[in-house]
Amino acid sequence: MNRQPIVSLENVTKSYGGINALESANFELYPGEIHALAGENGAGKSTLCKLIAGVISPSDGTVRINGEVVKLSAPKDASERGISMVYQETSLVPQLTVAQNMVLGREKTFNSVRKVRNAARQVLQRLNFKVDPSQLAGSLSTAKRQMVEIARAVLNQAKVIIFDEPTAALTPEETDHLFDLMKTLQAEGVAMIFISHALEEALNHSDRISVLRNGKLVVTGNADEFDRGSLIHHMIGEELNEKMHVPAKRHEARSALPVLRVENVRMGSMVNNMSFSVFPGEITGIAGLIGSGRSEVAKVIMGHTKRNFGGGRIWLDGREVRYSLPAQAVADGIAYVSEDRKLDGFFDTLSISENIGLGWMAKFGRRALLAPLRKMRRISREWEGKLSIRSIGTDQSVLYLSGGNQQKVVIAKSLVQQPKLIIFDEPTRGVDVGAIAEIRQIVRQFAESGAGVILISSYLPEILDLSDRILVAKSGTIVADFPRADATATKILHAAIH
Ligand SMILES: Nc1ncnc2c1ncn2[C@@H]1O[C@H](COP(=O)(O)OP(=O)(O)OP(=O)(O)O)[C@@H](O)[C@H]1O
Ligand SMILES: [Mg+2]
Repeated sequence: MNRQPIVSLENVTKSYGGINALESANFELYPGEIHALAGENGAGKSTLCKLIAGVISPSDGTVRINGEVVKLSAPKDASERGISMVYQETSLVPQLTVAQNMVLGREKTFNSVRKVRNAARQVLQRLNFKVDPSQLAGSLSTAKRQMVEIARAVLNQAKVIIFDEPTAALTPEETDHLFDLMKTLQAEGVAMIFISHALEEALNHSDRISVLRNGKLVVTGNADEFDRGSLIHHMIGEELNEKMHVPAKRHEARSALPVLRVENVRMGSMVNNMSFSVFPGEITGIAGLIGSGRSEVAKVIMGHTKRNFGGGRIWLDGREVRYSLPAQAVADGIAYVSEDRKLDGFFDTLSISENIGLGWMAKFGRRALLAPLRKMRRISREWEGKLSIRSIGTDQSVLYLSGGNQQKVVIAKSLVQQPKLIIFDEPTRGVDVGAIAEIRQIVRQFAESGAGVILISSYLPEILDLSDRILVAKSGTIVADFPRADATATKILHAAIH
């Protein structure tokens, strides 16, 4: 390519407290190019993107846009030059409507609320995103919030769009649609960067791929020069013995008493007479499309959301329960690893060990207060090691961890409670290939130790690999129940759709 790059980084370094999150990176992005970034959690992918989007400024090195040296000291400086970023953690203002969020910072260009709403509606329709522009952003699901962020970039007529893990919260259909859309934008000359932990997405949907490892950009090449193995090799610097496939448990006779029994639970329009049981020592996978009521029933079990008046019954270890607060469910031994770590996963101003410590306190309450601080520290260190949570310093607040490492903190915070039932809602979203393997092992061991596990995942291979039994949810009810040996992707999809 001998055209001029639209963005280039020359020897760019970003350091925090003397430690490099990104080190002497050289990176070029060309007009009309789709460029994928790959790398382990904490490798520096989001850092590279935020430097281009003006969210953070380099400690050293040069940034050029269209050949001209620039200093981007705020996102506004980048967006004025046509650079938009769709963040890993959504940045919408929950109290504003979808339309207001889409024009945030550019309200002056529109002189009436109606114009704002119409402009927003047009873009959403063009993208085929089913989001109502007058709805409050705070009431949207994770997937829809992401759609609004994408629509905002398109409305801004950006020349460069950066997507930080755009597909993590999307269904397979939504993901396909996004890649089609990116192709359309590409034909219009828009340059795009996207980060993804799904290596196939990088391989199949980009023109070029750059791999980061430990803050260094180790390689850039045409997508067709890579395959899964070589990408992983560049990411971790060695071969990964892919222990991704976790063996199923040997089937012993199931103990008669389920750890959880849900009967005819109803909640609004999302959960309609949902009934199922979860047995100790087993991983019960729940497959289904987004909106099938899986996360919603989990929230009802946890006392996060109220079921309808007379809306069914729930038993834990044979005892009927009805929680009005998640704290009660936690005290009884139920843990919930949520799909949205930012909303209810952790306290982002606290450190890793404080977060894990709080998880411990939430369960062991008074007993934990008497536990020496030293013990709490030891326990959280242990979990940091088990999940290889990587940070620059241990007492750093969780806010500054990379996205995947934040997810690991949420998991550790729940597991430290030694629950008898754990509900994993999309547990490996945003987590790198190596850590996914670790998390899967942990989920398996956890079941093996005799606890009940519910695994909600939109990623079918994950459900198929891990579950001992697979339930399929559709329109708020369970429509199929397969033992592992009988389950296939086709059967599950058929049940989820028809
Ligand atoms: N504001 C900050 N203060 C201190 N350290 C930071 C800050 N922001 C990022 N870091 C550190 O820089 C490193 C790179 O983080 P970055 O977010 O770029 O990773 P990433 O490749 O996007 O990872 P992931 O796949 O988990 O999202 C991490 O170790 C992170 O903890
Ligand atoms: Mg990131």
